[in-house]
Amino acid sequence: MSVWAVLAAAGRGERLGSDRPKAFARLGGRPLLAESLERLEGSDWIDQIVIAAPPDWEEPSILVAEEIAATKVSSAVRGGDSRSESVRLALAEVPEDAAVVLVHDAARPLLPDEVIERVLAPLSEGWEGVVPALRVSDTVKRVEGDRVLETLRRDDLVAVQTPQAFLADALRRAVSGDVSEATDCASLVEAGGGRVTWVEGDPRLLKVTDAADLALVESWLEEE
Ligand code: C5P
Repeated sequence: MSVWAVLAAAGRGERLGSDRPKAFARLGGRPLLAESLERLEGSDWIDQIVIAAPPDWEEPSILVAEEIAATKVSSAVRGGDSRSESVRLALAEVPEDAAVVLVHDAARPLLPDEVIERVLAPLSEGWEGVVPALRVSDTVKRVEGDRVLETLRRDDLVAVQTPQAFLADALRRAVSGDVSEATDCASLVEAGGGRVTWVEGDPRLLKVTDAADLALVESWLEEE
């Protein structure tokens, strides 16, 4: 069973306040992209990798792969206007005979191999998609403008991370329609009636959004 990874790295990362895309912000003295790429490369679960790169950063992305001697990277494609479009464009580079696709955000650099293993396991038990998630500790409310509409039952809520694993066919079907509103791939599979389950995520999979997140991830990296 061949497992391909799509690394979504095409975001602009404006909230980071840098002059370059987020995937090229510095983390531990190298581009952020290098961290998750190296972990995917080093994982025995992953066979090949496609990078969705920020427009005009396809070549620098390949250079990052070369610098870390990542032999599993098959290509770096130009990303789209949204995360889901970037995934769709990268998926077009994944061969038809790939059985499983793992989609990961480059913005979550600290990718534990145990999580890759955890999200892949349920795919052999009849699930089409698997997401890593953490139970929420805050109370979550639905709002409209400044008005609170309702309070959701916390026991029914989890906060979802990446890497998300899919049977390749299910993911291809999911991204073939309108993907503009989706903030993750699993929501597209769910919307098409696909069977999606969740496994325990990891707090280290924090998504880097602003400079404080980057500093926090950097401190965790130093402790590793
Ligand atoms: O914007 P956000 O941080 O939620 O993006 C999550 C991930 O999706 C990031 O790794 C980012 O690089 C990626 N992304 C993408 N293409 C876009 C927007 C975001 O690959 N157009």
